[in-house]
Amino acid sequence: MKLEDKFNKLEELNKLAELGGGETRKEKQHAAGKKTARERVLQLLDPGTFTEIDKLMTHRSYDFGMEANKIYGDGVVSGYGKVNGRLVYVFAQDFTVFGGSLSRANADKIIKVQELALKMGAPIIGLNDSGGARIQEGVESLAGYADIFYNNVISSGVIPQISAILGPCAGGAVYSPALTDFIFMVNEKSHMFVTGPDVIKTVTHEEVTKEELGGANTHNSKSGVAHFNGSDEEQTIMMIRELLSFIPSNNLEDAPIKTTIDSDERADESLEEIVPADPNKPYDMHEIIQRVIDNKHFLEVQPQYAQNMIVGFARFGGKPVGIVANQPQNLAGVLDINSSVKAARFVRFCDSFNIPLVTFVDVPGFLPGTNQEFGGIIKHGAKLLYAFAEATVPKITLITRKAYGGAYDVMSSKHIGADVNLAYPTAEIAVMGPEGAINIIHRNKLNDEEKAAAVTEYREKFANPYKAASLGYIDEIINPRDTRKKIIDALDMTQNKRKSNPPKKHGNIPL
Ligand code: HXC
Repeated sequence: MKLEDKFNKLEELNKLAELGGGETRKEKQHAAGKKTARERVLQLLDPGTFTEIDKLMTHRSYDFGMEANKIYGDGVVSGYGKVNGRLVYVFAQDFTVFGGSLSRANADKIIKVQELALKMGAPIIGLNDSGGARIQEGVESLAGYADIFYNNVISSGVIPQISAILGPCAGGAVYSPALTDFIFMVNEKSHMFVTGPDVIKTVTHEEVTKEELGGANTHNSKSGVAHFNGSDEEQTIMMIRELLSFIPSNNLEDAPIKTTIDSDERADESLEEIVPADPNKPYDMHEIIQRVIDNKHFLEVQPQYAQNMIVGFARFGGKPVGIVANQPQNLAGVLDINSSVKAARFVRFCDSFNIPLVTFVDVPGFLPGTNQEFGGIIKHGAKLLYAFAEATVPKITLITRKAYGGAYDVMSSKHIGADVNLAYPTAEIAVMGPEGAINIIHRNKLNDEEKAAAVTEYREKFANPYKAASLGYIDEIINPRDTRKKIIDALDMTQNKRKSNPPKKHGNIPL
């Protein structure tokens, strides 16, 4: 073979690989409002930074005529590149090739980038769009899935793992994304379920569309399986880039600092007006968060799910933090099963990746009711308690209003290891609200007038931050206008915090 022919052959093979499943299937993909795997990878990464690995890999199947049907790349585009100048690994399932289904070879490609990402300490992003197990390969495909799941688990807490669902993701295939840290979905284009509508109809006689069952809306607002949803693929992929800007590349690094012109000293008098004088009146905790973080830039995680709890990423003085906050505007900010689990998972992510936690507290307690008790609020509430207590990152807590009962302890109190505990003068730190307390202490022994007087007396005595401050449970009672400066000072003071829990194989979080 002439030298020139050798080069031509390489070019020809590369072109074939880039063609994926061919022009017709590519057009079908575009007509469905979806991009091809390669287009997605190029959009995710900084221009000109993608290095593809295993571009010429093919499947090794000889059943069902597959030996005559090989496509270079075998249904997944994988490799590495940069996002905002930082190394990331990526794989994107190519629906134009055998429906993006997972063959043994296809799994081997994903496993290779997983192992590289772990070894090099860089995030991995999986762009999922697949018909599931390659039906022609049977158990070899199942083995491939299991190998991927195993790597997901081993990498958990070492490198950030991010999944985007950009098409179908069904059956056991859902478990790789489920094991990763964050799941992104696209409205109307992505679907996740363990068993689809047809199987459900046969087994339980329920009729449900695939959108209702496993669409972006369902998983972002009802099930809590997903963390973000975009209106289209472009927006979704941009959100992945934004998320990466807040998090470190691995568990040994700090999150990247972004210079800001928002002054550390910035006071804001409008903060004095946000918490209403009437303790039973709701307000939007976002109003406080937005006013104190850098440039009002808040990346909220799971914004549509368990809205009585707000979690997300922001920066103070350029440094990323994880924010956890009760939302008095929704269910009075009460702790229930869903909000406890949502916040616990977020706290554990931040702790795994050295991201300090800033907690805003306005919580009337745990939600009463048989639904909650039968659903296991005891063990689910314990998850949040566990997560805050085991977290060794800097923990700053600000009580804006109510901090009642067990929920006071749970919400990053001094007693479970918070480093700096602040409160507004409007804070009420007590075993329970004054009305409830008086009802219990005096039962039915008081007339209305006496009861009102007792409530006032209780409120004055206990529904304030001064008792807790006198005991050292609150370090400082601050004027709301100084919130930003006080939090930045606390983060500055704690930045070299050295704390580790006793060595152990792993803890036993109540699951
Ligand atoms: C091999 C597959 C495939 C699969 C799709 N294709 N799924 N090939 N294995 N699992 C191929 C199709 O044959 C077709 O090839 C091309 O991909 C596009 O598929 P269409 O059906 O034409 O596309 P569409 O109408 O958009 O439907 C997409 C779909 C459907 C809903 C995903 O293809 C489907 O239901 N596929 C099977 C899903 C499934 O049951 N998978 C196994 C689940 S069990 P041509 O050549 O015509 O273009 C599982 C277990 C995982 O995944 C366990 C992990 C532990």
